[in-house]
Amino acid sequence: MFKGKARAYTNIALIKYWGKKDEALILPMNNSLSLTLDAFYTETEVIFSDTFTKDEFYLDGEQQNDKATKKISTFLDLVREKGQTTLNAKVISQNFVPTAAGLASSASGLAALAGACNEALQLGLDDTGLSRLARRGSGSACRSIYGGFVEWEKGFDDLTSYAKQISSDGFEDDLAMVFLLLNDQQKDVSSRDGMRRTVETSSFYQGWLDSLDADLAQLKQAITDKNFQSLGETMERNALKMHGTTLAANPPFTYWSPDSLRAMQAVRDLRKQGVPCYFTMDAGPNVKILVEKKHVTTVKTACSHLFSKKQVVSAQAGSGMTIIK
Ligand code: DP6
Repeated sequence: MFKGKARAYTNIALIKYWGKKDEALILPMNNSLSLTLDAFYTETEVIFSDTFTKDEFYLDGEQQNDKATKKISTFLDLVREKGQTTLNAKVISQNFVPTAAGLASSASGLAALAGACNEALQLGLDDTGLSRLARRGSGSACRSIYGGFVEWEKGFDDLTSYAKQISSDGFEDDLAMVFLLLNDQQKDVSSRDGMRRTVETSSFYQGWLDSLDADLAQLKQAITDKNFQSLGETMERNALKMHGTTLAANPPFTYWSPDSLRAMQAVRDLRKQGVPCYFTMDAGPNVKILVEKKHVTTVKTACSHLFSKKQVVSAQAGSGMTIIK
């Protein structure tokens, strides 16, 4: 019997990953850049044993259905190939997210699973190897191997596509992110399906790709300069562009709900009142607000006038994947 356990934190992209050029290997169309956060994380234990007749996957104490287990099994097949074993496995995962968050994150989940498997089978993967492995489970998971600011370099094949930490001289320690948990329902269009549909059908997709290098360069410069305004403006613009591509897809779709729009307006109003803060959104209606720590209480208070207190959760920069002994 071989066991390993790991914890990984979720990350939020400031420059989004949106679109794959290789679906099987999960190679992205563009580089992305994220901030790892400390508020939401996953702990995963994996046990490989010859007493198991098939793979089993438990999440928050409940055995998962065939579809969810299949995704994990496909990932475990890669791990088994690397570890030269045919043993079945039991995967026991716990998501530490506020209840009803609608944030159950594949990024933290797959990054923790990659770490746990590396430990269990003594695969000897370094961070780059772990990032490449996590990427095969879910693209954004490759960034959750690291803490702080992280860039996923798109690369051109399995070997060259992985994330690495960006040095920032501690800039991330000045920052916070306020999560507005606006909906806990299953998404209509998963990020996987949404990005595929957009790449295949959206006439705005090329525009997204064409402006990415400029956004990425500007965001990295903002990190180097510790320029919060430029960081926030670039992040917000990039998110709006990503969401714009979905409107021109066929059939068109959007992740925004009426509450998302109210939240965006609240952020703009706060800015007008002189509170620097900026929003971003992923493949769902929740809005995440980037703010300097010194203004986090002001932002939370303003948001809790619009939404209930338990919908407003703040996070700070988090650390990379860790093994739990
Ligand atoms: C909008 O990593 O969940 O959050 O690779 O298909 O598993 P798969 O997709 P996933 O996509 C995340 C998309 C995003 C932007 C981002 O995190 O960069």
